[in-house]
Amino acid sequence: MLVLGIESSCDETGMALYSTSAGGSLLAHALHSQVAMHQDYGGVVPELASRDHIRRVVPLLRKVLADSGRSLPEIDAVAYTQGPGLAGALLVGAAFAEALATALERPSVPVHHLEGHLLSPLLSRTPPRFPFVALLVSGGHSQLMRVTGVGEYELLGETLDDAAGEAFDKTAKLLGLGYPGGPALAELAERGRPEVVKLPRPMLKSGDLDFSFSGLKTAVLTKVRELPTIDEQQRADIARGFQDAIVEVLVSKALRAVATSGLKQLVVAGGVGANRELRRQLDARAGKARIAVFYPELEFCTDNGAMIALAGALRLQTAGDRGTAGKATGAFQV
Ligand code: KG4
Ligand code: ZN
Repeated sequence: MLVLGIESSCDETGMALYSTSAGGSLLAHALHSQVAMHQDYGGVVPELASRDHIRRVVPLLRKVLADSGRSLPEIDAVAYTQGPGLAGALLVGAAFAEALATALERPSVPVHHLEGHLLSPLLSRTPPRFPFVALLVSGGHSQLMRVTGVGEYELLGETLDDAAGEAFDKTAKLLGLGYPGGPALAELAERGRPEVVKLPRPMLKSGDLDFSFSGLKTAVLTKVRELPTIDEQQRADIARGFQDAIVEVLVSKALRAVATSGLKQLVVAGGVGANRELRRQLDARAGKARIAVFYPELEFCTDNGAMIALAGALRLQTAGDRGTAGKATGAFQV
């Protein structure tokens, strides 16, 4: 089965072809990032995003077909991101996918964006095996899940306010960093000194598996306001203090979730999963606890078409027909 995957939920147009033959493999994937276009505005402009997705979908489809040596009629199903995301941006991918599926007389598979992220580590050369615990940390979500199989997701804990990526982005803005904020803040934090700026570890000792990150952002704002002027080293120290706090909470809660589940595998997915300090801390502490940690390839941490093609293919394989393949299950509801 050859599945086309289309991602257009925010500022990246992603397209990929995944084949389920011989254990499954990604045949081709292509991405167009709109970062340069939105940079002048300090964030994503939804109207510009939608219009750019329209410009990109056909060339990207042509590219994945050429790169894989496949032709349009060989496509067996068209998977696309149904949501959550920017309405206009999602509509471009959905309309394109549904039109293509109708023309080819093939099934369409609407995929929950987070399910794509959640399953993305299965694309790597050393994938985890079900069941596992997943730490899902994107721009809009921070969740801990018990994943028993495709479509079998149990929510163990989640953020009560800001998502981890959102906290990175908002704090980056406070520190005068441009868009996209998360990677910029992480880079600045690499030059910061440890323990110079001490920030709270929200809900570290709450006893449950929930998170809260909005207070951390406010704590940074207070620190910035206390300083009459702020030089480059002070900004880096604040960034370091923020990153250390958020990473400690994420790592502690993720390892606690694994311990209470009785499982031995942790999967990290979503944009914040690209954070180097998070990976360093997790690897160090999980190693001691004999927990295996799995990450998507760096290029599949942030939004991409490959994870949507994979999730669509797995859904079709699991459900066997269109009716249930597109239905949100477990903790995911669009
Ligand atoms: O998963 P994703 O691409 O999109 C959503 O589905 O939201 O995640 C994007 C989020 C943004 O908030 C971005 O700032 C954050 O992931 N991010 C990072 C890093 N790379 C991306 N946060 C911290 N460190 C990074 N290296
Ligand atoms: Zn995403």
